[in-house]
Amino acid sequence: MTVELRPAAPDELEAVVRLFRATFGGAPNADDLERVTQRTELERTLVGVDSRGGVVATAGAYSFRMHLPGGAEVGCAGVCHVAVRADHRRRGLLTALMAEQLRAARERGEAIAALWASEAPIYGRFGFGPAAPTVEITLARTHAGLRIDGPVAEVELLDTAEAQRVLPELHTAVTRQRPGGIHRPAHFWPSTLAPLPGEGPPQQIAVLPGRGYVTYRLEPEWSAAGPAGTVRVHELMATGPAATAALWRFATDVDLAGRTVAGRRPVDDPLLAMLVDEGRAQATGDWPLQVRLVDLVDAFGSRVYAADDRLVLEVGDRQLPDQAGRWALHSSHGSGGVSRTDEAADLSLGADVLGTVFLGGVRTTQLLAAGRLRQHREGAAARLDRMLATEVAPWHGFMF
Ligand SMILES: CC(C)(COP(=O)(O)OP(=O)(O)OC[C@H]1O[C@@H](n2cnc3c(N)ncnc32)[C@H](O)[C@@H]1OP(=O)(O)O)[C@@H](O)C(=O)NCCC(=O)NCCS
Repeated sequence: MTVELRPAAPDELEAVVRLFRATFGGAPNADDLERVTQRTELERTLVGVDSRGGVVATAGAYSFRMHLPGGAEVGCAGVCHVAVRADHRRRGLLTALMAEQLRAARERGEAIAALWASEAPIYGRFGFGPAAPTVEITLARTHAGLRIDGPVAEVELLDTAEAQRVLPELHTAVTRQRPGGIHRPAHFWPSTLAPLPGEGPPQQIAVLPGRGYVTYRLEPEWSAAGPAGTVRVHELMATGPAATAALWRFATDVDLAGRTVAGRRPVDDPLLAMLVDEGRAQATGDWPLQVRLVDLVDAFGSRVYAADDRLVLEVGDRQLPDQAGRWALHSSHGSGGVSRTDEAADLSLGADVLGTVFLGGVRTTQLLAAGRLRQHREGAAARLDRMLATEVAPWHGFMF
């Protein structure tokens, strides 16, 4: 059966959401449909339609801005709503949709694409790599004491309307502190702050005015030994050490809770170095943000560098062939970029490996040791790592 790929029509949006939810084993209700519709950019939503007019495949994108090492922001296609109906899978529909999404991102002048992968093996073939690893931190209340000098600031609980006024500015400020951070568009906030009924206990919003906030839920649990609830942190954004301490202290000392769990945290979350009882927090691997370079000149020209050097990279890229081939990566006094060259390569690597190391959060030497790239000159991978190193680990926390 032939499938036509094209931009979605307005009246196909509901079918897009239904297909996406169905491939994840669910079904949207009216609230969910409204929420997704509110966020979706119709002109960036592609559909595959069968001969009966049914939507059997879809992939969308959000027009995000990503924060790069050094502070510049570039256009970032946030790939979303990827789904192919079970009876049409493994016939190349996702491959065709990704080719079109990447082509469109390039045409729009975006430097980067990013996504959360439901299953890690899917997206490497399309040039994406896990560039910003995260951890899930679990901390028992009994071991949550923090090293804090002086009094700890008090947080205030806000209702949704107040939070809507206060949180976006704080989110922007903290996002700017980390490479890889994606700014949350204004139209995402209402659904972020007011999760749907049925998504668990109500969300609490605690703010430290001007300095940070934490959103969380208390999941109650009762054992024979007493209350043993879980505080599930949705988002904790702190502008500095004092705010970090105050917000974590609040989130780890909620009455009737036995533990606090915070997912998709940066691998160098300051909390881990703030505990009196160091080593008691469990930090396990969580979802990494997957990154793909769409425009090498823009991406490499927009970030800063930690070391002066020059290396020739031979890049393999099947989806964006104009990005493939040999590039000289050069840096001097912090700034740098890439330009075309015919010189012999120091390193040969695929677009997925380049996307993985670009933000400085994963070492090229580790990928070299894993056989993921070829090194033609001794020490070239380590030199690339020194150029791309960042002061803090790249991090992006919210799902899209
Ligand atoms: C993931 C999904 C979109 C793939 O769509 P598809 O049309 O079957 O993909 P394609 O036919 O274009 O496959 C391209 C390649 O990716 C591989 N691939 C696709 N899905 C894969 C998966 N889940 N795990 C490993 N490999 C996968 C295919 O085997 C194929 O490999 P090949 O090129 O070596 O033959 C589809 O299976 C799906 O809807 N899954 C459930 C929802 C989901 O996980 N969405 C992704 C959200 S991030």
